[in-house]
Amino acid sequence: MRVTDTSDLWWKSAVIYCLDVKKFLDSDGDGVGDLQGLATRIDYLAQIGVTCLWLMPFYPSPGKDDGYDVTDFYGVDPRLGTHGDFVEVVRTAKDRGMRVIVDLVINHTSDRHPWFVEAKRSVDSPYRDFYVWRDDPPPKNQQNTVFPGEADGVWTKDEKSGQWYLHSFYEHQPDLNVANPRVRDEIAKTVGFWLQLGVSGFRVDAVPFLLEVPEGAEMANPHDFLRDIRRFLQRRSSEAMLLGEVNLPYEQQVLYFGANDDGQELSMQFDFVAMQRLYLSLVRGDPAPLISALTARPELPVEVQWANFLRNPDELTLDQLSEQERQEVFEALAPDERQRVYGRGIVRRLPPMLNGDPRRIRMAYSLLFTLPGTPVLFYGEEIGMGENAEIGGRAAVRTPMQWSGEPGGGFSGAPRRRLASRPPSDGYAPEHVNVADQIEDRGSLLHFFRDLISRYRISPELGWGRFDLIEQDAPAVMAHSLTADVGRMIALHNFGDSPATVRFRLEGEPEGVSLVDLLGAERVDVGEQHDVSLELPAYGFRWLRVSRPGDGRLT
Ligand code: NOJ
Repeated sequence: MRVTDTSDLWWKSAVIYCLDVKKFLDSDGDGVGDLQGLATRIDYLAQIGVTCLWLMPFYPSPGKDDGYDVTDFYGVDPRLGTHGDFVEVVRTAKDRGMRVIVDLVINHTSDRHPWFVEAKRSVDSPYRDFYVWRDDPPPKNQQNTVFPGEADGVWTKDEKSGQWYLHSFYEHQPDLNVANPRVRDEIAKTVGFWLQLGVSGFRVDAVPFLLEVPEGAEMANPHDFLRDIRRFLQRRSSEAMLLGEVNLPYEQQVLYFGANDDGQELSMQFDFVAMQRLYLSLVRGDPAPLISALTARPELPVEVQWANFLRNPDELTLDQLSEQERQEVFEALAPDERQRVYGRGIVRRLPPMLNGDPRRIRMAYSLLFTLPGTPVLFYGEEIGMGENAEIGGRAAVRTPMQWSGEPGGGFSGAPRRRLASRPPSDGYAPEHVNVADQIEDRGSLLHFFRDLISRYRISPELGWGRFDLIEQDAPAVMAHSLTADVGRMIALHNFGDSPATVRFRLEGEPEGVSLVDLLGAERVDVGEQHDVSLELPAYGFRWLRVSRPGDGRLT
């Protein structure tokens, strides 16, 4: 890989940070975070080492699905600011070396979107075909809804016309008819609009639902649509990328990269399979489930990438585990029924799930940053925020950023009743977990993140390298290496609760090779036969750069 490649395909070695503007920092005291608040925290994010912000929906919305119910694709929620404020955020971020990507929610709109309001007015409305309708009642056993218990089926009757409209998600989120060229045109314009305001790509919401061909509609190959968006995007901005949400088994997922046709659909996809198996590994103290996912990953062309994550704004879904495995994870990490939703997911953040054990928490994040792919963080992970168990459902993990030890966490000066959300009041309350205290404390999780990310950023083989497992016989340890032409990194992670000795042979390396401990800054001896023996404490981890004589790398 050349320097030119690493800057063109910047997202292959990025550190992506997902945040909800509403929950980040309130600059005007109305209880809702805003773009001006975010702008004042760009330096904080740059100091952590984040290179790309992913902004969750900040568009006008009635807020029935936390902004994923949009009423204007081209607008900014007035509580959050203006287009001017948005451009200032993008501009400031760029100045500090960060790109911005934004959520592209085009599977559906809010039912209050003027298009749907118009569409409902009459069957002859020019907007009627923006949505998907059927004349007959849906079959008794309607397709399962995405939100069991919160939505009944995916078709709802429009009383005025007697027809039924499709909504893959909530009833108030009618699906757009992407087979309609006018809808496609609006989507292209939306993409063009935000690119023009300076974004570097999109996190594409609910991709498989978007490509579902509505019954009776004509759409030869739905993937053509995704290819069209990608082509359009690249014409407008060569650096822009698409990070897609596709929670499917690998063999289906790979099609969304365009694996059958030159890799020209999504640039990146979240790896839901590895994420779920990683949790199973953490619970079992055994890397085998995670290894089985990593070794089952399909081969990808060099221009595309996996995005790895431990938490996102949604429930921690376990839908791709077997029933037995899911129950095992539920019992260990979410023993209380109220910590689970939709029969498939957990509404907790990572530190409480790991009983606040700093060794396990740090090991999990070290692992995240060494998995082949690009790490994606959810705001607050860098300080170890917990969920607010008193708030039900997915909102429990979407609480305000905890900046200081005040009861409201320094998020807003508004009275408590007006806050967009409330921080927890348990051991994860702002008085115990906040940015201000952790900045002062060199041993804090925040400093751990800063150090980890600074090493990650000088190790492009992590994002680009070929993944190989290293043979060794400590069963609780995963030893793997990432190899690119720039060099090689070996990562060791002990999933077990007791110390382990890791012995392996460093194959294929020249005489005089040594290992540099990137997190500890010492050199590790490599014996004559290139045999290495290392002790790892319980939940210990090491990042070892393979240092070859004369390779010219600085550490
Ligand atoms: C996936 C998003 O992550 C989720 O939060 C949202 O509810 C649905 N898509 C619908 O937009």
